[in-house]
Amino acid sequence: MSSSKAAKSNSLDSFWMPFSANRQFKQTPRMFVAADRMHYTTSEGNQVLDATSGLWCVNAGHRRPKIVEAVAKQVDELDYAPAFQMGHPKAFELAARLVQLAPDGINHAFFTNSGSESVETALKMALAYHRVKGNGERFRLIGRERGYHGVNFGGISVGGIVSNRKMFGTLLTGVDHMRHTHNLELNAYSRNEPEHGAELADDLERIAALHDPSTIAAIIVEPVAGSTGVLPPPKGYLKRLRKICDKHGILLIFDEVITGFGRLGTPFAADYFGVTPDIMVTAKGLTNGIIPMGAVLVKSEIYDAFMTGPEHLIEFMHGYTYSGNPVASAAGLATLDTYEEDGLLTRGSELADYWADAVFSLKGLPHVIDLRTMGLIGAIELEPIAGEPTKRAFTAFLNAYDKGLLIRTTGDIIALSPPLIIEKTEIDFIFDTLRDILKNLD
Ligand SMILES: Cc1ncc(COP(=O)(O)O)c(C=O)c1O
Repeated sequence: MSSSKAAKSNSLDSFWMPFSANRQFKQTPRMFVAADRMHYTTSEGNQVLDATSGLWCVNAGHRRPKIVEAVAKQVDELDYAPAFQMGHPKAFELAARLVQLAPDGINHAFFTNSGSESVETALKMALAYHRVKGNGERFRLIGRERGYHGVNFGGISVGGIVSNRKMFGTLLTGVDHMRHTHNLELNAYSRNEPEHGAELADDLERIAALHDPSTIAAIIVEPVAGSTGVLPPPKGYLKRLRKICDKHGILLIFDEVITGFGRLGTPFAADYFGVTPDIMVTAKGLTNGIIPMGAVLVKSEIYDAFMTGPEHLIEFMHGYTYSGNPVASAAGLATLDTYEEDGLLTRGSELADYWADAVFSLKGLPHVIDLRTMGLIGAIELEPIAGEPTKRAFTAFLNAYDKGLLIRTTGDIIALSPPLIIEKTEIDFIFDTLRDILKNLD
């Protein structure tokens, strides 16, 4: 190897990091080298409390023995099996377990490798469903401003985060967006669902009237918008959306990539809000983050609609090399066991009040303009520095890391989503640390 190649192989330069300020990071790297339950260990040997469950995925906490063992065993037993026209028992077992956990009426699971792929799969399923039913004129997909549905072309087309869309050309055609529900003037400092804004669901009526309802295949929303900075839906909003979908034959897709698997104190947000979508998009907490995996959960009507025609033919021309991968399936099964054994899918509801009180204890601190909570999610919205959006929150993130706390920021909003095993003393640590940071933030 030439000396310049050797020097390069030791540098941080080669890795183009995703959704990261590469240059800032590479000047002052923040490296995790180990993790256990609520904490990471940095390369300097410091402990950092994980207030974000990694990226909203490590819901049961880190390095849980049952999941670690299941993965190790599976690697040694059946490392890979072809996903197309072949199977292995654990994928079927996991699908059965998932639909058991899902709301009534949801009876089938299609496996993917990420939230983004689950979104693409759900959108394609919706279009193809209408087509196999003889309604191919239903081709429009509706999203919402500020929505985040991953980073692939379908997801950013129905998504509504401007910075994730503006670089990437024309995106999908036939897409429209409802307005978002964020309204600081009317709803600032709401606990759980804000009072005002259910009527924004009627935006779907407006869009349906514009395009004609018979052209609309599906609408996709996050029950609680996450990546845009935690926006719980206004009271009654999701029920109203469900009604409008039913009226017009539009499929309702819930993107439960962050709300799934206990985040709100119920298995899914669908349970929390008492609204069952036609399709549920999941990933992240499905395997506790240990192996990439997503699942799209669908109602029988959708699956059954495809099961027609000659039996030797493939019914849905879609799938991934790693759909239902054996190691991911083993991780998923052990994750569901761990959730069940530790009561984690409902633990969020037991801690929600304590958590919300802690979030609201930050009211009145400098720069804080809103606080939002739901289940074990919290958001602290900061006033941006004039002309330098995101900088104030990013500084808070860096300061928190130096104080042994991992938070996540999006724009000038701090979003918190700790592992569901969190103890009250750890909640206190998070908010004592944040209080200290906010008091001293420019
Ligand atoms: C609601 C939602 N959908 C989709 C995704 C994309 O998931 P992934 O990053 O696994 O592709 C995310 C990720 O944060 C998400 O929050």
